[in-house]
Amino acid sequence: MSSSTTTVYAISGASRGIGFAITSLLAQRDNVLIFAGARDPASSAPLKALAEKTGKVVPVKLESANEDDAAALAKLVEQQAGHVDYVIANAGIAEDFNIPVFSVPAASFTKQFTVNTLGPLVLLQHLYPLLTKSSKPRFFVVSSVAGSTTFAAGSPLIFSPYAVSKASVNHLVAHIAREGEKDNLVATLVHPGMVLSQMGIAALKGMGIPEGEEIPGIPAITPDESATALVKIFDEAKRETHNGKFLSYDGSEIPW
Ligand SMILES: NC(=O)c1ccc[n+]([C@@H]2O[C@H](COP(=O)([O-])OP(=O)(O)OC[C@H]3O[C@@H](n4cnc5c(N)ncnc54)[C@H](OP(=O)(O)O)[C@@H]3O)[C@@H](O)[C@H]2O)c1
Repeated sequence: MSSSTTTVYAISGASRGIGFAITSLLAQRDNVLIFAGARDPASSAPLKALAEKTGKVVPVKLESANEDDAAALAKLVEQQAGHVDYVIANAGIAEDFNIPVFSVPAASFTKQFTVNTLGPLVLLQHLYPLLTKSSKPRFFVVSSVAGSTTFAAGSPLIFSPYAVSKASVNHLVAHIAREGEKDNLVATLVHPGMVLSQMGIAALKGMGIPEGEEIPGIPAITPDESATALVKIFDEAKRETHNGKFLSYDGSEIPW
């Protein structure tokens, strides 16, 4: 069992990209314990190495929206820490770029909604009893500016299933923020930036942006740069300023 001064995190999608960068950054701190979700922890060599090197990271199997995985995670957190302070729903997929909304299969919406919207919900539901044992319960969803309806109205990008899944999780967090107030929860959405992770690189390619170039006006940043900015938001989050907010990685508010 961790000590009462240990800050306990649970994060999904920690095998690579932004989730791995956040986990690596947090693992540099003293008195932390990080339950790091991955679909197949055994195959994420960097995560395994981080766990062995720091002794502060516990890799766990966590498929988004899988109730059994989330229940097993909650059991493990209960046994090893007794509570969780920060739940970070980061795992996500972005597929079927450049298929017009008029022909994109409905199944694409279902798949991305399951991972990007239900994934965070199922994770939170299973960890909520342990989160509310924290003196500072925090829930963050790594969403996307793509989920902004204001952005969609003026965007040239064609990726409606992804955008709708992120708009859905944004709306979901508005409810979580309001219903969690009684438990002192702070629930916040964060946009990580245009990040050069596997997903970001594939997205740029899908948009026809040549390698090494950026979308005009949207700087491309590394997963480490994104993680540094997001962890600052996680650290600073307070009920008055952050609950129910949709923030970009620089801390500015994104219109819904
Ligand atoms: N990159 C960007 O520019 C950008 C911009 C806006 C928002 N975001 C959001 O940032 C978050 C992290 O993305 P990233 O850029 O780090 O992408 P990434 O490099 O593709 O990493 C995605 C992570 O999600 C996990 N994942 C995928 N499908 C999953 C599933 N069904 N169940 C559990 N885990 C699953 C992956 O695990 P495996 O290793 O098992 O596949 C991986 O750890 C996502 O929510 C994404 O929508 C990214």
